[in-house]
Amino acid sequence: MPATEPKKKIIITLDGWSSTGKSTLARQLAKELNYVYIDSGAMYRAITLYFLRNHVDWTKHSAVEKALKNITLEFTSNHKSGHTDICLNGENVEFVIRDLVIAEKVSEVAAVKEVRTFAVAQQQAMGKNKGIVMDGRDIGTTVFPQAELKIFMTADESVRVHRRFKELYQKNPNITLEEVKNNLEMRDYIDSHREVSPLRQAEDAIVLDNSHLTMKQQLEIAQKWVKERM
Ligand code: DC
Repeated sequence: MPATEPKKKIIITLDGWSSTGKSTLARQLAKELNYVYIDSGAMYRAITLYFLRNHVDWTKHSAVEKALKNITLEFTSNHKSGHTDICLNGENVEFVIRDLVIAEKVSEVAAVKEVRTFAVAQQQAMGKNKGIVMDGRDIGTTVFPQAELKIFMTADESVRVHRRFKELYQKNPNITLEEVKNNLEMRDYIDSHREVSPLRQAEDAIVLDNSHLTMKQQLEIAQKWVKERM
């Protein structure tokens, strides 16, 4: 018997409202555990970018089905940032998908049944060997209902608006707090009211409210939960 058993690999899901810092925490956990990190929201954003560029009418099922056949999504390591970037048909679109133009349409696109079937199948395939941290809206409920650790992230709306504003302001100093607030509220509403896989807390998820937590504090809390499950 080896002195130390290899640690069992698990699946960690982080779902929650917009701008609750899911990707920051997911990335930190993945780095520490040497797990794969997948930003599922980036997949919906990249699909939205393709639809906008190619004038795909996402209210028409046949147009969506046809367009999805021409979309390939891949994640690639960015050695400069140390992050994982998303590629749409071979093009690194990590930066452009963060634009407000995409944020304004992504919830509509993500509510389309065919789009979700397309994205969820790829997400499930990525997790078949476990050792993965994935963040999104339906990861603990639909993509990996069997996940060992499910975290549901929330924070006060004003805290979330300011966080997102700070992020977007760096790219676009003309952006207003009002625009960011409206977009956040609209996305949360659509994401939690859509018919297919709406955003909701899985019954076995643990809530992490980080309104008044530093990044270090929230990481320590999550690390404790991970340890308990390994
Ligand atoms: O996490 P994000 O803000 O980058 O996600 C962009 C949008 O994609 C979000 O408004 C809802 C949608 N989304 C989803 O419906 N399901 C997921 N698993 C992840 C994101």
